Amino acid sequence: MEEIISFKASKLVSIDDLDIEDIYLLFNTTLEFEKVLNRPLKKVPALKDKTIANVFFEDSTRTKLSFEIAQKRLSADVLNFSSSSSSIKKGETLNDTIQNLLKMKIDLIVVRHKISGTASFVYEKTGVPVINAGDGTNEHPTQALLDLFTLWKNGFTNESLSILVKGDVLHSRVAGSSFKLWKKLGIKFSVEGPNTVNSRTGYLPEFSDSNVSFNVLYNLRIQKERQDMELIPSFREYNEFFGTKAAENQLVMHPGPINRGVELDSDIADGENSVILQQVELGVALRMALIYLLGQKKGA
Ligand code: CP
Repeated sequence: MEEIISFKASKLVSIDDLDIEDIYLLFNTTLEFEKVLNRPLKKVPALKDKTIANVFFEDSTRTKLSFEIAQKRLSADVLNFSSSSSSIKKGETLNDTIQNLLKMKIDLIVVRHKISGTASFVYEKTGVPVINAGDGTNEHPTQALLDLFTLWKNGFTNESLSILVKGDVLHSRVAGSSFKLWKKLGIKFSVEGPNTVNSRTGYLPEFSDSNVSFNVLYNLRIQKERQDMELIPSFREYNEFFGTKAAENQLVMHPGPINRGVELDSDIADGENSVILQQVELGVALRMALIYLLGQKKGA
């Protein structure tokens, strides 16, 4: 109980919502839920009096299913809203949608939207705990957290990590959250990719120019749906010049979905150094931990 009270965050719209103590508490709680998920009985009654809405205005495979299974493992009641089969198609506004959900006594909202700032807007309009499941090019905080947890599980410490981020940093909400998280914890990282998509230089740490040898290759998806400025003229050339084709003694990560043969070749994505599916597996435990911690807060 002492641990629960000490979780200070009341939402996870941004990595900025967590201080370092919250991050360690979240990771320690994730270790406990990982044990639960490895039992024959994978369910706990922790949130059996709570109702959670997953409100997705943009496509998702991993994040949506991961949140849903995490909530079901915690015994919460789950509502799944998908904009493509909702009254949004008849002109309903985002605010009207969430105000309707509130009247159904929702305790927590998980939201994904193509517009940056939507998760923050939903929190302002509802006051209930909100988890950002990805907003435009802004942030995807649970992805950043589950990725770092995966690295810790593979034996890395904040001090021993040196991460090379490859790809479309400009459009990546995963990079938006990861860079904040890594800077908060003093983790070394740098970026590699075409200059046209790597202009988030304000995030880069001072040591990015040094001759660090990287022990992790974090591959970002080339976001074809956000290439309206045509910053990458040819995906074939992108693969030739920037695609990951080798990973010698380096852990290979990717948030998914992968554009195979563009940012990452299949033999590397599926190779012995890849932890891409482990990221997905551990993500369920991390999301269980986060929902559990937020679900214990007053007002949730
Ligand atoms: N990593 C991630 O956000 O994947 P989805 O778009 O499939 O949810």
